Amino acid sequence: MGISPWDAAEPPGDDALARLTLDGFWQGARLLLAEGAETPGSPLRKPVLSTVDADGAPRARTVILRRFDPEDRRIEIYTDARSAKAGELGVRPVAAFTFYDPRREIQLRLSGRAALHTDDEYAERAWRTLGPRNMADYMARAVPGTPDSGASGPSPDTAMAAGEGDEARRAAAKTNFAVLAFTYDRLDMLVLGRATHRRALFRWTTSPASTPDGATSNLAAPDGAVWLVS
Ligand SMILES: Cc1cc2nc3c(=O)[nH]c(=O)nc-3n(C[C@H](O)[C@H](O)[C@H](O)COP(=O)(O)O)c2cc1C
Repeated sequence: MGISPWDAAEPPGDDALARLTLDGFWQGARLLLAEGAETPGSPLRKPVLSTVDADGAPRARTVILRRFDPEDRRIEIYTDARSAKAGELGVRPVAAFTFYDPRREIQLRLSGRAALHTDDEYAERAWRTLGPRNMADYMARAVPGTPDSGASGPSPDTAMAAGEGDEARRAAAKTNFAVLAFTYDRLDMLVLGRATHRRALFRWTTSPASTPDGATSNLAAPDGAVWLVS
């Protein structure tokens, strides 16, 4: 049996929930985000990413959490550089991620800023980790989200031509691949216990950056933490 209230795939017990400190809550958020990035079957692996479009309207979609770095307060997902979300972030680089774990009845809401990496070291490193199935996601010739007339799978217009060499197909797909890197400065965590609910807000006012001498300062801990009425 685990000693942490976050170990079990069920809501933390009411006693454990009542005893938690703000720091314990924050450590829980870190553990849950790490689980999402590392555990394929976890519901925390599939958050909803929200952006704002050019008209100021909200846009939300499910994505796969690929990486979580608590020291840099950074989350990464992979996407198509031609997608609507990429364009939206180019205009307004603000985003929110919403995670919900129905087993534990926990919601995490992170907001902050997002940047796209294409054709740089980041994108290169991530691209090398992709298997052929994932690479194929970026092979569509037509722009994702545009009207598609084909009812029975991709047409020659929308997919790479069948005769094209693997190498050429992969090179073309790579230009469409982007790492979306998100840095949060606000995290709202809500836990619905059986009898009690608990909610806390964590905030960061400093940038996660290395100090001039190269040593990374401890910026992972929030510089503002408060319980909220749930
Ligand atoms: C389970 C699931 C996981 C998904 N993962 C991703 C992902 O990691 N990256 C991505 O760009 N789209 C992903 N999608 C597709 C998006 O939800 C969305 O349809 C697509 O990215 C287009 O969004 P946009 O037009 O707002 O840019 C996923 C969809 C589902 C249902």
